[in-house]
Amino acid sequence: MQQVIEVPNTLYLCPVCREPLQLNQSGKNYACQNRHSFDLAKEGYLNLLPVQDKHSKEPGDSKEMMMARRLFLEAGFYEPIAKAVAMMIDANNTKGEGMQFLDLGCGEGYYSRKIACHYKHSEKIALHGIDIAKFAVAAAAKKQPEAQFVVASSNRLPYIDQCFDFILRVFAPSADDELKRVLKASGYLLIVTPGPRHLWQLKKSIYTEVKEHSSESLVLQGFDQLVTQRISYKITPNAQQRMALLQMTPFAWRANASVQQALSAISELEIETDFILTLFAKTVDIETT
Ligand SMILES: C[S@@+](CC[C@H](N)C(=O)[O-])C[C@H]1O[C@@H](n2cnc3c(N)ncnc32)[C@H](O)[C@@H]1O
Ligand SMILES: [Zn+2]
Repeated sequence: MQQVIEVPNTLYLCPVCREPLQLNQSGKNYACQNRHSFDLAKEGYLNLLPVQDKHSKEPGDSKEMMMARRLFLEAGFYEPIAKAVAMMIDANNTKGEGMQFLDLGCGEGYYSRKIACHYKHSEKIALHGIDIAKFAVAAAAKKQPEAQFVVASSNRLPYIDQCFDFILRVFAPSADDELKRVLKASGYLLIVTPGPRHLWQLKKSIYTEVKEHSSESLVLQGFDQLVTQRISYKITPNAQQRMALLQMTPFAWRANASVQQALSAISELEIETDFILTLFAKTVDIETT
C-alpha cells in the first residue's frame, strides 16, 4: 500500500516527539502522528512548553511585569523603535506577499500589534509570537486574534526547520542554533538590545554606581551582521508610567520601598532611552568538496 505523507498545515512541531503538528477539523486542537495533543486556549494561543522545559512554576516575566510593560508601551514611549523595526522589515522584504514573521520573546505583543498595524489590510505578513510567560502570551493573543501565539522556550522552538522569513527579537533571550534552524536561508533576523545609555537616569535613582551597557557589537554563531542602527532619545513619563517602566526592567528588584517612594515622588524625570538595532542574515555555508 502506498504510504500517505501528510503535509503539515501549520509550522508547529510537537514539543514531545518533534513530529509536525496538524490542526484538527474542529479547529480547536493540534495533534501529531503520535497522538500528542494540544488544545487552543480560549484566548487562541497554544501552550507548547513541556514540563521539562519549565524550570519554575511561572517562567519568564510575571503577570505584574507584563501589565507594567503594557501600560508603559501603550503610552507610546517606544513607538520610534516599532517604526524603525517596521522600516527594517520593509527595506528587507524581498518576499512580497505571505511573509512568515516571528516575534521571539514577544511579551504582551506590543511589537506584533504595531507591525500588524503597519501592514493593515494586507496579506503580506503572517504573524507568529512566542514567549515563555503564559500570562504575556494570553494577553498578546487576546488583543490580536489574527496572530498565532505560543507559549514555549526560545531554547527549543516548536517550529519546523527554515519556516520564517523574518525573526524579531526585542530585549529577549534566544539560542543561536535554534534561530539558525527556523530561519529560511533567505531570511533576516533583527535583534534590538539596550544601548550604553539606556534608562540611565532610572538606573541612577537605584544604584550608587551605574555602568553603561556594553557597546560591543553583537556576534551570533552562524549569522553575518548586515546593518546596525542606534536610536536614542529622551522621554518624560509621568509618575505612574515611570513606576511601570521600573517594574518592567530587570533592576526593579533592586529598588526597595524607600527607593520606589522617592522615585514616584519626583515631579518630573527626563530619562534617556538608547537602543541598538542589528540586522543579520544567515552565513552561507560553503560546502567543501
Ligand atoms: C524584556 S521582555 C521583552 C518583551 C517584548 N519583546 C517587548 O519588548 O515588549 C523579555 C521577554 O522574554 C521572555 N523570556 C524570557 N526567557 C525566555 C525564554 N527562555 N524563552 C522565551 N521567552 C523568554 C520573558 O517572559 C519576557 O516576556
Ligand atoms: Zn508528538
